[in-house]
Amino acid sequence: MTALTFQPPILTRVSDLIGGTPLLALPVAPDSGRVLLKLEQFNPTATAKIRMARQMIDEAEAQGRLKPGGCIVESTSGNTGLGLALIAAERGYRFTAVVDAHASMDKLRGMQAYGAELVRVGEPDGGLATADRDAAAARIATERGAYWTQQHNNPGNANGYNALADELRHSLGSSIDYLFGAIGTGGSLCGTGRALRAHLPAVKIVGVEPEGSVIFGGEGSPYYQSGTGTPAGAEIGALIDYDLIDTGLKVSDSTAFETARYLARRHALLVGGSAGGVIYEALRHARSVPPDTTTVVLVCDGGEKYLDTVFNDAWMNARGLTNPKIIEELNLFMRP
Ligand SMILES: Cc1ncc(COP(=O)(O)O)c(C=O)c1O
Repeated sequence: MTALTFQPPILTRVSDLIGGTPLLALPVAPDSGRVLLKLEQFNPTATAKIRMARQMIDEAEAQGRLKPGGCIVESTSGNTGLGLALIAAERGYRFTAVVDAHASMDKLRGMQAYGAELVRVGEPDGGLATADRDAAAARIATERGAYWTQQHNNPGNANGYNALADELRHSLGSSIDYLFGAIGTGGSLCGTGRALRAHLPAVKIVGVEPEGSVIFGGEGSPYYQSGTGTPAGAEIGALIDYDLIDTGLKVSDSTAFETARYLARRHALLVGGSAGGVIYEALRHARSVPPDTTTVVLVCDGGEKYLDTVFNDAWMNARGLTNPKIIEELNLFMRP
């Protein structure tokens, strides 16, 4: 009998499963730089955001802002809410998620499955209502004495990604030249980026937001990418550290979604819409750098939450989001 060399520890809480997510190298075209995906959908709740949800609650407990059996409220597009719902279920808190019609049904159902209460704001058929959501969360916090995590301004959000940076350094040592990520609150990109830079000062940090989002300037307009960016009229969060970010890029819904669909069909990799956009930009960038350059992409979530939208042909066609040119480009960026 062969001796077992590695035995995973037996864990006692679901949140102990957070972190340790895999890195996957994309098959890039010859002479391109290396592109590595940090697949955060391998966390509980299938997104990076559980990291910051746990951290915000840990810090609130340590600061005495949250008492046993207390209430938590947050305005969320869904992934933060899933994380808070899981932590609340594990620790015996009540959690209220303020959501709008932009959130994916699967995220909403997921939060309810963990016992969260949903409060819906905005038009039932409308889109993103970030400002309304924030106003409702503030009101609920006052009326019920709930702890409002305020992810856009909570340092715990960014702190939640220190471990992610440690994981990257553990796997890659100093071989990290670029960090690409989607940017909404800025917690994941700026939190990871700042912690990486403390050890690797030369790492370049690239944020990618949807076209129509206003983080890197420009006119605001509606967009379909979920969870990412800041729409016109909503406050740009305090965690977005412009001094830390070397480059800010904008990616269209069409490009982001066609990339996600391409990766699923051609490379068996199911990622969410925001990740599709970031991966497209990372692949395009990889063509212009030497082959010994490493670009790490933070993949916020998997595609399972977007089967009714990004991966639904009728949904894509009805919104004019299909674009065969993106597929031609991706054929050049990647090996078959
Ligand atoms: C799918 C998705 N992509 C990107 C982001 C942006 O991440 P962050 O808020 O850390 O900037 C989020 C945040 O909720 C998200 O849910």
